[in-house]
Amino acid sequence: MIQEIDEITKEIEKYADKIEDKTFLITGGAGFIGSWFCDTILSLNGKVICVDNFISGSKKNIEHLQRNKRFKLIKKDFCTLKFNKKVDYVIHMASIASPPLYQLHPLQTLDIGYIGTKNALSIAVKNKANFLFTSTSEVYGNPPDDQVPTKEDYYGYVNSFGERSMYDESKRVSEAMIYSFIKKYPSIKFRIARIFNTYGPRLDQDASQYGRVLIKFVQQALFNQPITVYGDGKQTRSFCYITDQIIGLSKLLLEDDLPFNIFNIGNDKETSILELARLVKELTKSKSEIILNAKPNYDIKDDPRRRCPDISRARKYLGFNPKINLNEGLKRVIEWYKKH
Ligand SMILES: NC(=O)c1ccc[n+]([C@@H]2O[C@H](COP(=O)([O-])OP(=O)(O)OC[C@H]3O[C@@H](n4cnc5c(N)ncnc54)[C@H](O)[C@@H]3O)[C@@H](O)[C@H]2O)c1
Repeated sequence: MIQEIDEITKEIEKYADKIEDKTFLITGGAGFIGSWFCDTILSLNGKVICVDNFISGSKKNIEHLQRNKRFKLIKKDFCTLKFNKKVDYVIHMASIASPPLYQLHPLQTLDIGYIGTKNALSIAVKNKANFLFTSTSEVYGNPPDDQVPTKEDYYGYVNSFGERSMYDESKRVSEAMIYSFIKKYPSIKFRIARIFNTYGPRLDQDASQYGRVLIKFVQQALFNQPITVYGDGKQTRSFCYITDQIIGLSKLLLEDDLPFNIFNIGNDKETSILELARLVKELTKSKSEIILNAKPNYDIKDDPRRRCPDISRARKYLGFNPKINLNEGLKRVIEWYKKH
């Protein structure tokens, strides 16, 4: 994992003086992406206050940081936390992002998107701190083919009343709230990353029974269990390796002047779920059988058929250029999974 941190810090070194000795509040910092963000900030001599209630995060993600004097963990629900510390940056990542888990906790998912985002924004305003929110490609819902790759100005085709709506709408209301804060507090920098599927070591570390598709396939393949594809497997996703994602998020937070608040951050190589299953099987040399239509009540209506970002805005204004392809990233995840 030192390799990953080196790869990230090399790309964002030019922002080092904006990080050194500055305090970053990171909600959801014990989660997959959050913990990598904590590592990055600490490795460039910043200070981190991580707030997490561990609903989907893991102690294992941050245990190596516990003795670092620049790292402080507050184990609380961010929706009810009274926070009075001084901070320079607010990164609001807390969320319940895995579909089976947010379906299990629909109200908590909505709360963190409404109450949590409002609290995070108020802290940013009080401290005049730069603010970054991790939104999602799910705000685009199920776009038609002519909107894929999807640009930031697409409004979305989203169901507000269904199996995924607690997550999608929690992010959409967060974005609406940020819009209102931008109008009210024009001197503060508010940035929104619409993240597309991101993977890497630590993904769903303690929540493997609720794990997202890529880690579920790796787990099934390594145990030679059937690889269970929902539907026909022709639905697509675009998988971004964690180092690329953290580089994109850091640039978005730390770049001075940007003409937009919202940026897609992800990898723009589209892959079908069946291709993913085959690649995982090949790389793990697994004996697993790939089973199509493995979920009888699979909700084809709301599961996006295609998911691929147009990242030309991030390329142009952030110099964002994802480097790790799926083959390479999967090899790294498989190695990590075997070790852990
Ligand atoms: N990984 C992806 O592919 C992806 C894609 C799109 C968007 N995102 C967004 O990026 C962010 C990080 O996602 P991730 O993949 O690391 O997920 P994750 O589940 O690993 O991390 C989210 C963290 O938030 C914490 N959390 C949830 N509710 C909380 C609350 N009320 N109070 C305090 N902590 C709380 C969880 O315990 C967890 O540690 C999320 O906002 C997610 O919506 C991720």
